[in-house]
Amino acid sequence: MKRRVKEIILEPGRAFSEFTLLPGYTGKDCNIQNISLETKLAENLTIGIPFLSAAMTSVTGYDMALALGKERGIGVLPARLPTKEQAGIVDRIKNHEIGFVEKPITAQEDSSIEEVIRMVEIHGHSKIPIVDEYRVIKGMFILQHYWEVGGSLQDRVTSVMISFNSGKHVPNCNNPNISIKKAKSLLESSKENYLVVLDNQNRLVKLAFTKDIEKINVASAISTHKGWQDRVRTNVEAGTDLIVIDTADAYNYHAVDVIRKYKKMGIDVPICAGNVITYEGAMKLIKEGADIVKVGMSTGSICTTAKEKAVGRAPMAALIDVDKARQDYFEETKRYVPLIIDGGVSNSYSMAIALKKADAIMMGNYFNRFYESSGEKQDGKGEPTTIEDKMEKVVTYGEGSERAHNLPRYGHTTQATFFPEGEEGTVKYEGRLKPYLKADILRIKAALVNAGCMNLKEFRENAVIEVISDYARGIVSDTHDMEVKN
Ligand code: IMP
Repeated sequence: MKRRVKEIILEPGRAFSEFTLLPGYTGKDCNIQNISLETKLAENLTIGIPFLSAAMTSVTGYDMALALGKERGIGVLPARLPTKEQAGIVDRIKNHEIGFVEKPITAQEDSSIEEVIRMVEIHGHSKIPIVDEYRVIKGMFILQHYWEVGGSLQDRVTSVMISFNSGKHVPNCNNPNISIKKAKSLLESSKENYLVVLDNQNRLVKLAFTKDIEKINVASAISTHKGWQDRVRTNVEAGTDLIVIDTADAYNYHAVDVIRKYKKMGIDVPICAGNVITYEGAMKLIKEGADIVKVGMSTGSICTTAKEKAVGRAPMAALIDVDKARQDYFEETKRYVPLIIDGGVSNSYSMAIALKKADAIMMGNYFNRFYESSGEKQDGKGEPTTIEDKMEKVVTYGEGSERAHNLPRYGHTTQATFFPEGEEGTVKYEGRLKPYLKADILRIKAALVNAGCMNLKEFRENAVIEVISDYARGIVSDTHDMEVKN
């Protein structure tokens, strides 16, 4: 058989931080408000932000899948969960019902814009009711609206809020006992995506949001080993939106066999296959019918795969190669196969560079840090705690760690051949997911603005990234010759 690959590649593989993004021409309407991070993963699956939480037991359970799903990303429930439990979570997520925000965070009418923006940063809510001392509604501060109208940070927030008494509409109802059903129908018939519930003296009682009545996406991981078909059926019945083959190395007989059989099951749910890191690996899975391909090996934060057995690849090298395969396949067939990069992306810098080639990003370490992750939370002394104020660290462990012992993910059928390919440890606790994620979404949107791209498709097609030398990185990617004020 003719080999396309070189047996020895002398060009070094690159990581995300070895590139910078160059500006492209930014047009008049290309501003943060207008940037879309929507990502079409399959004909019937579009997510609002290009992020998936890893199929790791220390990361994704009900809370993470719900929190990320609400922000329009997608959580991938680990294959290590018993099938019933995994499908049970899918069922709960898909039937998640609108709830009112019973004690909304508010700002007083004499607050400055700066104070309210600070609240947005802390809590992640982009809509803050402005009230007087008796909680009587005066207006709504809406971040998006503020971006449009602008205003000095020292100005009073009332100068940029949507005033309750103006002709502009703050959707509301004066019935504190409004039913969920009624609130839903008001939201559906309103142009705005929120509803303010007041008492008969216009005092704020609670809020409802359209986001809470939209269906939340959720994904289910499967292994390539015995029982996967039953897992697929049970999860599909529960309403899962995506099946993800979760194996450390998918360039093999078993992954191909799963794809083939899956395609014969007549299921209308897309299947993502991975992981692969080479042109050939990706082409094989694509040709067999994978709807989405997941890329990455040896780069996970907890991963010891390359340390143990030297197998792996720098993530941008893998992405660039796999992208070539999908492009070649696209030219031949016109079928576009989205790519998900998995492993080693933990900050907005890596996200921006990865999105030059990847359609979406799966992250373990990044999501592990939040309140909603499945990892146990610890206080400063390393003791388990459930008190939010005391949380300082979160337990993390790889699927291939001694603790998780996910044999199928690493191709083992028996305990006798198992050795750990992942570590257990902790990450720094970073609070709730929403504000942190929103801040990074803002950074990614700003990167797209610099690149002159309105959406991720344009970014993949037009953005230019360049390798920087080690020396250049010191002056390009960080501050230098100064001490940063704490
Ligand atoms: P992170 O975002 O850098 O933490 O990488 C997360 C990814 O690491 C997961 O989505 C998996 O692909 C991979 N992974 C999870 N557990 C292990 C392990 O035990 N060993 C190696 N890789 C792992």
